[in-house]
Amino acid sequence: MLFAATSANASEPVSGSIVVAAKKDKAAAEAPKQGAKPAAVDPSVAALEAASARVAKGDWLAGAWHPIHFKPAIDKAKDADCLACHAEILKATPRPASEAGVAADKTIAWYQTLDTYTGPQSDFHVRHLSTPFAQKVMNLSCTFCHQGNDPREESPHVTVAPADMTSWNGKPPFSLRKMVNTSETCLRCHGSFPWQNMEGLSGPWHEIREDMEPEGTNGCLACHETIRTSRHQVNYLKAAGIEEAAKDSSDTCYGCHGGRAWYRISYPYPRTPWPDMPKDAPDWAKGRPTAADARFRTGQ
Ligand code: HEC
Ligand code: HEC
Ligand code: HEC
Ligand code: HEC
Ligand code: HEC
Repeated sequence: MLFAATSANASEPVSGSIVVAAKKDKAAAEAPKQGAKPAAVDPSVAALEAASARVAKGDWLAGAWHPIHFKPAIDKAKDADCLACHAEILKATPRPASEAGVAADKTIAWYQTLDTYTGPQSDFHVRHLSTPFAQKVMNLSCTFCHQGNDPREESPHVTVAPADMTSWNGKPPFSLRKMVNTSETCLRCHGSFPWQNMEGLSGPWHEIREDMEPEGTNGCLACHETIRTSRHQVNYLKAAGIEEAAKDSSDTCYGCHGGRAWYRISYPYPRTPWPDMPKDAPDWAKGRPTAADARFRTGQ
C-alpha cells in the first residue's frame, strides 16, 4: 500500500492524500470520455509513486530525498501523506527526566500549571497536533510548518525554485539551517505580549492583569469585545473554538499572545479592519497588512 490510513486527526479521511486525490481527479476527468485513450498519469504523481516503491523495498535514501519533501509536491501534500512514513512523530514522548536526573514533572513552567494544559509533558508535535487543547483552538497541518526539507544543506536555495522563495508573505519559505521558518510559524503564537501597542495598558499582562479582570472574567475581552474583533480568520486556527475556550479565561488568549513567549519580539499581525475602527492608524501600525496572508485567509 502506498500511502497508509494514518492521520493526525481521526476525522480526516485518507482520501485527503495527494496520490489518492490525483487519482480521483484523473478518474473524474476521464469519466465523460469513456473509450478514449486513458489519460497519462500526472508525471509528478508518477515520480512520487516510483520513489515510494523504492522506499517500500528498503531504500532509505529514496525516502530521505523523496520528492514529497520538496516544492512543488509538498505544497499539495496532506497530513496523511506525511504520516504514512512519519507516524512515529505523533507517538514520540520526551524523557521522563533530564540527563542530569531532574524529573520533568518537577520543572513546571507557568503555562503547564493552567487548566488548558492537560496530561503529562508531551512531545512538541503531539502538543501542536493532537492534544485536546490543540484540537480545540488550532488546525495545524504538517505543511504549515514544513515547507520543504533538504537533508544535506537544510538551506532553501538548494531545493526551492526562485519563484517560490517569496512564498511566505514575500519571504523565503524556510530559513538557513532550520527545519522550518520560525519567524513565520512559531513567532505567531509564541511572541511576547505587545502591550505597548494597546492603549489603556500600562505594563506586561502578568503585572497588571489582577486589576484588569475581576475573578472569573476574561480581561482581554474587556477591550477585545469591540477592538480588533475580526481575528483568527485563517485556516490554521479554529476561530470559533478560540472564542469558545476564551469565555472561561484570558489564559486561552494570553497562551498564544505572550504566555508562552519564546521570543522578546511579537509577530507583526495584520490589522484587519473592525467596525468603528478609528480612521487614523497609530504609528506602530503604519505599513501593517490589513488582511491575513492569502495562503491562509478564510472567509470573514
Ligand atoms: C515515503 C516515505 C516518506 C514520506 C511520504 C515523507 N517522508 Fe519525510 N522522510 C522520510 C525519510 C526516510 C527521511 C529520512 C529520515 C531520517 O533522516 O531519519 C525523512 C526525513 C524527513 C525530515 C527530516 C528529518 C531529519 O531528522 O532531518 C522531515 C522534517 C520530514 N521528513 C518531513 C516530512 C513531511 C512534512 C512529509 C509530508 C509532506 C514527509 N516527510 C513525507 C520518508 C518520508
Ligand atoms: C508547529 C510546526 C510544526 C508542525 C505543525 C509539524 N512540524 Fe514537524 N517539526 C517541526 C520542527 C520545528 C521540527 C524540528 C525539531 C528539531 O529540530 O528538533 C520538526 C521535526 C520533524 C521531523 C524530524 C524528526 C523529529 O521528530 O524531530 C519530522 C519527521 C517531522 N517534523 C514531521 C512532521 C509531520 C509528518 C507533521 C504533520 C503530521 C509535522 N511534522 C508537523 C515543526 C512542525
Ligand atoms: C498556531 C499557534 C502555534 C504555532 C504556530 C506554534 N505553537 Fe507552540 N504551542 C501552541 C499552543 C496553543 C501550545 C499549548 C498546547 C497545550 O497546552 O496543549 C503550544 C505549546 C508549545 C510548547 C510547549 C510544549 C509543552 O508540553 O510544554 C513548545 C515548546 C512550543 N509550543 C514550541 C513551538 C515551536 C518551536 C513552534 C514553531 C516551530 C511552535 N510552537 C509553533 C501554539 C502554537
Ligand atoms: C485596555 C484594553 C485592552 C486590553 C485589556 C487588551 N488589549 Fe489587546 N489591544 C488593545 C488595543 C487598543 C489594541 C490595538 C488596536 C489597534 O490596532 O489600533 C490591541 C491590540 C492587540 C493585538 C494586536 C497587536 C498587534 O501588534 O497587532 C493583540 C494580539 C492583542 N491586542 C491581544 C490581547 C490579549 C491576548 C489580551 C489579554 C491578555 C489583550 N489584548 C488585552 C487593547 C487591549
Ligand atoms: C492558538 C493560538 C491563538 C489563540 C488561542 C488566540 N490567538 Fe489571537 N492570533 C493568533 C494568530 C496566529 C494570529 C494571526 C492571524 C492572522 O495572521 O490573521 C492572531 C491574531 C490576533 C489579533 C490580530 C487580529 C487582526 O487581524 O487584526 C488579535 C487582536 C488577537 N489575535 C487577539 C486574541 C484574543 C483576544 C484571543 C482570545 C479570545 C486570542 N487572540 C487567542 C493566535 C492565537
